[in-house]
Parts: sequence; C-alpha cells; structure tokens
Amino acid sequence: MNTTANAYGLPDPEELEAWAQPYFSEYGAKEAGRSSDVSSSVGYSPVVQPYTGADAGATAGRAVGAGFDVNRVRADFPILNEKLSNGKKLIWLDNGATTQKPRQVIDRLSYYYEHENSNVHRGAHELAARSTDAYESARDTVAKFLGAPSKDNIVFVRGTTEGINLVAHSYVRPLLGPGDEIVLTILEHHANIVPWQLIAQETGAVIKVAPVDSDGQIILSEYARLFGQRTRFASVTHVSNALGTITPVHEMVQIAHGFGVRILVDGAQSVAHTPVNVTALDADFFVFSGHKIFAPTGIGAVYGKADALNEAVPYQGGGNMIRDVTFERTVYNPPPSKFEAGTGSIADAVGLGAALNYVSQIGLPDISAYEHELLDYATCELCGIKGLRFIGTAKEKASVLSFVLEGATTEQVGKHLADRGIAVRAGHHCAQPILRHYGLESTVRPTLAFYNTAGEVDELVRAVREIAR
Ligand code: ALA
Repeated sequence: MNTTANAYGLPDPEELEAWAQPYFSEYGAKEAGRSSDVSSSVGYSPVVQPYTGADAGATAGRAVGAGFDVNRVRADFPILNEKLSNGKKLIWLDNGATTQKPRQVIDRLSYYYEHENSNVHRGAHELAARSTDAYESARDTVAKFLGAPSKDNIVFVRGTTEGINLVAHSYVRPLLGPGDEIVLTILEHHANIVPWQLIAQETGAVIKVAPVDSDGQIILSEYARLFGQRTRFASVTHVSNALGTITPVHEMVQIAHGFGVRILVDGAQSVAHTPVNVTALDADFFVFSGHKIFAPTGIGAVYGKADALNEAVPYQGGGNMIRDVTFERTVYNPPPSKFEAGTGSIADAVGLGAALNYVSQIGLPDISAYEHELLDYATCELCGIKGLRFIGTAKEKASVLSFVLEGATTEQVGKHLADRGIAVRAGHHCAQPILRHYGLESTVRPTLAFYNTAGEVDELVRAVREIAR
C-alpha cells in the first residue's frame, strides 16, 4: 500500500521536504543532524536527530522514523509513562478517539488558572484584560494554524460535533425547503450525519450519499453526479475516523463550487496528522476538535469564510454575542462573537492555542512523514497475521488501522489488547453506515499519533498474533 504520495492535495515526500525546509532552516537542526537549542514559547525545542532507544523505533532490523526524535516528543507527554493497574505500561493507540496532552498544554492550563482566570470582558479589570488577551491570542493561533485570513473567521465551539451543528442550524437550515438536497458521503462520522438529518426532517430536505469503492475511497465521478439544481450544501470528512481514508477534499470542494454549493470539511481526524490550509483548500467551513490534537476536551473551532459567517444567523442567543438588546429586537455583534453566546471554555481555548503552537514547533510535515512510516510499518506487520482483514485499504490513508480477526470478536480482541496495556477502540466508531457497507457492526481500531513508536507497534502485533493463534 502506498501511504506516502498523495494525489489529493496532501503532501508527497518531496513536498513534505520542501514544507519542512523553513523549519529546518530556522532552527538549523536538520543540517546539523542534532538537537537545536532554540526554545519555543511553549518550552519545546524542535529536535531532529536519529532515535537511539530500542523502545523508539529500532525493531526487527528495520528503522522506522529515522530523523524524527520520537523519544524527545514522548518526554513531553507525562501520561505515556503511566503504569496500569495490571502492572502493564500504557501503550496509547486510541488517538482517533482522543489524544494525550503534552506538558506544555497542561502547564498552560495551570498558568491560566493561577494567573489569568477571569471572564473575557477586557475593560473591566486587569485579569479580564489578561484572559481576553489569552483567549483572543488563542483564536489568532487557530487562524494561523489553519491558514485562515483572520481570527474573525474562527468561532470557538465545544468540538467538531457542536461546530457541525452550528453550521447546520446557522447557515444551512435557512437555505432549505422541501426537496432541497444536502450531499454527504458514506464515510461520515455520525456527527456529520445526524445534524443534517435533524434539519432535513424539519424542512423536508433530502440527504444524498456518495459511495466508496471496495478500498473505502470516494468515487469522484459518482460524487459529482449527486449535485444538481436542488443541492443546497455539502459536507465531507477530510479523514475517515473508521477507515483512515484521506478523501480528495480539494476536488470535492471544486465539484461543490462548480455547482454553486458551499461545502464543509470535517477536520476532526485530519488536523493532527496533516497540514491544512483552508485558504488553499477553499472550503467554506472547516471544523475540528481540540482534543484530537493534543488540546483539552470541550474546545474546538469552526473556520468559516467571512461572507458565509455574515450570512449565517445565530445558533444560540445570550450574553457576549450582542451589541444591543431591547425586548423588541437584538442587534448582534459581528462574527465570530455572534456565534459565541454565553461564557465559553476560555482556559481550554487557551490550551488549544498552546497545543497548536506545540504541534507547529515540531512541524506537521515532519509529523505527517513519521506517521506515514509508522502506518506503513504497522500495516506490513499486521497484514501477515492469518485471519486478519483490514477494513479500509485506501491508497491515501492517515493513521488508522481498522481490522477484524477471524475467529475472535472485536470485543475479545480489544479486551486481549487492553490486558496487555494496549488501548485501542473496538466498536462501531460512531460510523455505522460505513462499517455496514462492509457488512460489519464493529472493528478493532488502533490509531497512531506522532508519539507512538515502532516498538509499540511490535507490541500490538505480538498481542494480535497471540489471539490469532
Ligand atoms: N470520533 C471519535 C472516534 O473516532 C470519538 O473514536
């Protein structure tokens, strides 16, 4: 399986190298082949040096991730040293469900509560000014991370689910009448299905679903055929949480726009694994959750194009989002405030900013390249196990290894792995339609992040072999 080149706007090895160059040049690390001593604002020094520890990547004579200092990264994540109650060391391969948090994020949250905690009403007093500055600076960080034109394009929400609900109710619902159509794909997470069903039921609109081929890849010609006069909106995942398929979002955005239809890209499973630039992508909305990218739970963001956010009506009403209120009418603040009624998760937004800074310091091109190597390695090792069948074999995949094993239920496999300290998700992954497309109700789903090692993959493979026997 080729998991390195990417025909769909995600980087191939040459592009990765080119994108990584500014980081390398800035820190002088790659050329030197040793760690840089430049500290970042989050206390992390980007390091590019060969790993040496057996736990890191050296395994069975095959080096994985040479040039990416996974041990240095792991040192930032205290929980990765956790011992479980059965005495086993934690191996966290449930990154698709949530990611672990680096010290830089944990410390930033503590700092916020120790020195900045206040509601965000800048003029009131000093702590209000500090918290407002921290919150708005985090918004700016999100905008820069996504390549958005301005921080005013960024609305803080609880996560991807709330973000999609916001877009569905604020922007799309007012466009819909009976017989109007919303285009989705069969790959979607329930969070990118149910909100559209809710507004379709209310308005009489209809949902159209794009199919995939047997590898779990979108069939673009079929996708284009779903659009027509009645199409009002489209929404698509960037990376399938159940299969790992990277969808051809650039082409899909162009197809939607060719029909004059706006499109949302669900980045929940992509932002931690591959560089995203919403301006280059030209998506109208892009949504992600902080907790999938090393930030706290309960915080995420919606990117929206300025004209779309201006057209959208508020999803929730309350304090903070208004300019003037009488009992007769309300004048709203401009976006993004218009969509942030009530007191948000201020500290968690600040933590999200810290997480994105942390990821940027390491560099998504490096992260992506390392994870692709690890995914290739894990795929090679697992596919030799008798009775193991991968679910999702797209040419372009992110860090998901969904599989079923002949003679064992997914619960049995999940339990066996858990007994060995290996955390994976076994179940339907909130993506029942795509699993049912394969005639399944559940799979075992190890999901990788940049702090995982080839040594951990070896442990996974050993444990799966045990149960396969
Ligand atoms: N969406 C999360 C997952 O894929 C919860 O596991």
